[in-house]
Amino acid sequence: MNISFNTLLQKENFTKDDIVRLLKASGEQEKALFKRSHEVKLEHIGNKVYFRGLVEFSNICKKDCLYCGIRATNKEVNRYDIANDQILKAAKFAHEHKYGSIVLQAGERSDPAFVSRISQLLRDIKKISNNELGITISLGEQSAETYQKWFDAGAHRYLLRIESSNAELYNKIHPNNEEHSHATRLKCLQSLQDIGYQTGTGVMIGLPFQTYDDLANDLLFMKKFDIDMVGMGPFIEHDQTPLYQYKDQLMSLNERFRLTLRMIAVLRIMMKDINIAAATALQAIDPLGREKALKIGANIIMPNITPTQERANYLLYQNKPCIDEGADDCTNCMEARINMADGEIGYGQWGDSLHYKSRH
Ligand code: 5AD
Ligand code: FES
Repeated sequence: MNISFNTLLQKENFTKDDIVRLLKASGEQEKALFKRSHEVKLEHIGNKVYFRGLVEFSNICKKDCLYCGIRATNKEVNRYDIANDQILKAAKFAHEHKYGSIVLQAGERSDPAFVSRISQLLRDIKKISNNELGITISLGEQSAETYQKWFDAGAHRYLLRIESSNAELYNKIHPNNEEHSHATRLKCLQSLQDIGYQTGTGVMIGLPFQTYDDLANDLLFMKKFDIDMVGMGPFIEHDQTPLYQYKDQLMSLNERFRLTLRMIAVLRIMMKDINIAAATALQAIDPLGREKALKIGANIIMPNITPTQERANYLLYQNKPCIDEGADDCTNCMEARINMADGEIGYGQWGDSLHYKSRH
């Protein structure tokens, strides 16, 4: 016989079937799930929300992921690569406005010139901020040597979404070639963790072919891998990508949104002290999407501080928010939003994953 939903919420370890049941919750049960995850969050990490100023500095990418708007073969994208001095300016902005950290994100490239450019950039950011800015990077799959170089140059967190823990599903949403291999992605995550990065991963929610079992396995994967940080968001179809052809088979946007919130809630209960980001893609569906995620279990928000003129060219998915806003507008608006979600901004603090600290 099934245990009651409230008893389930109090369990220490969820099985896959438990997770599926939680992910399918609606109405009063969904409310109870969100209440529980909110409690767990307050008890284990408090109500502080940490800023990560996001600089999407280039949309040049060698990968051709079937879901992504900036995939290499999309000829309709204006490619850009923001110069280092502009990136440093954004970093300075973040530092002056007491954002504890920044995230440098770009399409994937691994030529030697790119690798050394990033090392230099990392050192410069450390220098201009008196070592005060935390730096997360999200630059895709690289060799262990490259990861080590960037770590030595000052990056201490890395985001690399596994996209799906199911290799079969992964293969369906990527071209079938060596450049896009699930095994490589896993190996990369392992090197990042071995080197000593705070390691972040994540998945897209509501992908074509994805099942509740897949999503439950994704959460179990994160727990087993003992990740420190997570960013997961709804899949949003982009009409210049191959996956767009499945648009009629997808869950509604609203369902993808709710399911993402439930994924965050369940993960918060499973991994009480990790950092969970309120993904920007949530805001593409609901203007208050990220705030809702903060209330439920997320504790990280990534205000976009990319120079405004380039924002419209970094469209991984459509309807991306804030592409017309300058960084200053974003800060003000963000503060009001976070207060509304009962959160308190951890100004000037790195906001490292407590989970990482407990592992080291
Ligand atoms: N919808 C939602 N998320 C997407 N990403 C890429 N394309 C899309 C899309 N169409 C996510 C991937 C990637 C991250 C940088 O953006 O998960 O890892
Ligand atoms: Fe960007 Fe509000 S969060 S303008």
